[in-house]
Amino acid sequence: MKKYRVIQWATGAMGKTCLRALLDCPSVELVGLYVYGEAKAGQDAGDIARRPPTGVKATRDVEEILALDADVVIHCARLAPPYGSHDAELIRLLASGKNVISINGYSQPHSLSPERRAALEAACRQGGSTLMGAGLNPGFAAEQLAVVATSICSRLDHVEIVESVPCQAVRSPDYVFGVLGFGSDPATVDANDGAWGPASALNGMYADALAATASHLGLTLDRVETDHRVFGATRDLEIGAGLLKQGGISHVNWRWNGFAGGRKLLTISIHWYMETAHLDNPEPPLWQIRVEGEPGVRIAVDLSKHPSDTTRVSAEQIAVAGSVINAIPIVCAAAPGLLTRPLATPHQVSR
Ligand SMILES: NC(=O)c1ccc[n+]([C@@H]2O[C@H](COP(=O)([O-])OP(=O)(O)OC[C@H]3O[C@@H](n4cnc5c(N)ncnc54)[C@H](OP(=O)(O)O)[C@@H]3O)[C@@H](O)[C@H]2O)c1
Repeated sequence: MKKYRVIQWATGAMGKTCLRALLDCPSVELVGLYVYGEAKAGQDAGDIARRPPTGVKATRDVEEILALDADVVIHCARLAPPYGSHDAELIRLLASGKNVISINGYSQPHSLSPERRAALEAACRQGGSTLMGAGLNPGFAAEQLAVVATSICSRLDHVEIVESVPCQAVRSPDYVFGVLGFGSDPATVDANDGAWGPASALNGMYADALAATASHLGLTLDRVETDHRVFGATRDLEIGAGLLKQGGISHVNWRWNGFAGGRKLLTISIHWYMETAHLDNPEPPLWQIRVEGEPGVRIAVDLSKHPSDTTRVSAEQIAVAGSVINAIPIVCAAAPGLLTRPLATPHQVSR
């Protein structure tokens, strides 16, 4: 069996789940591990992943990673504003001959600004490598699931993808209060100002997801407009990342509308919340796909863990790792360049 030589980049909640999936996958050989945290440097990948020793030591030295002979890097760094902040390191990885799978966007890298696209494409040419996004949202809910849902429609008016995720368990204060904007004063924040940090990290990433969705539908978007809404905490909230004070943002409904031919065709609506007070339905499914057309289609999706899995890892985290594992053969077989994930994904995992 061909073994893909893979490097894991970053070991947060997502990175660790991907690392475990790599170590558990018979067709993958882990050859490198990049970490940010000083305490993790030098540790065996198996210790970080709570798996048997692997002989692969975590490093904070990018040069060491670049020097490795590897097929793919699984890039799971924390999203940083503005969207594209990780381009510089992706460019180095791609130029060194490694394919890259990112869980932070790149759903439709062809829609990036000409400057970003040119730099990434040049790196792919230099390294003979491919860049592709994976993950759930961005990565799957709109770009894959919603597109498949429309394949039984003879007329398509509008597709809305609604995601609802309680975020109380997320522990990183930098991510929760910084990147995602929780806790800010709603009165002083204009969520539809693209310069607001969280919006500057997310707007481009979800515009890409909409562009990939449209492209699978055979359409090109004219523009993407935001209609984000923020809600204040009804009381002090003790959350995984710390104390969220009453009145601070406890719920953001991120909304991106994609227009084609002058009319609204696609909407991604994401509810990330620390309390359910501002939800219409206090127990929403993870995703709702609402297709308006002939016929209309309604799909509600929840993910569940295998009953034997008693770890704290969520079904969503496991699914992100699954999408990454299944993406490895795709980027390895692809011609060098920027790749939008194809609709049909061959399975890499053993049953
Ligand atoms: N596409 C999807 O469906 C999907 C789903 C979930 C999450 N995500 C993305 O994945 C990212 C990581 O999520 P997570 O749950 O793993 O977050 P997390 O648990 O907070 O972990 C953050 C990670 O960022 C690394 N890090 C530390 N300092 C950093 C820096 N200055 N710059 C960049 N990275 C730094 C950490 O490295 P070490 O621990 O290795 O030292 C850690 O791996 C999120 O930002 C999110 O955008 C995507």
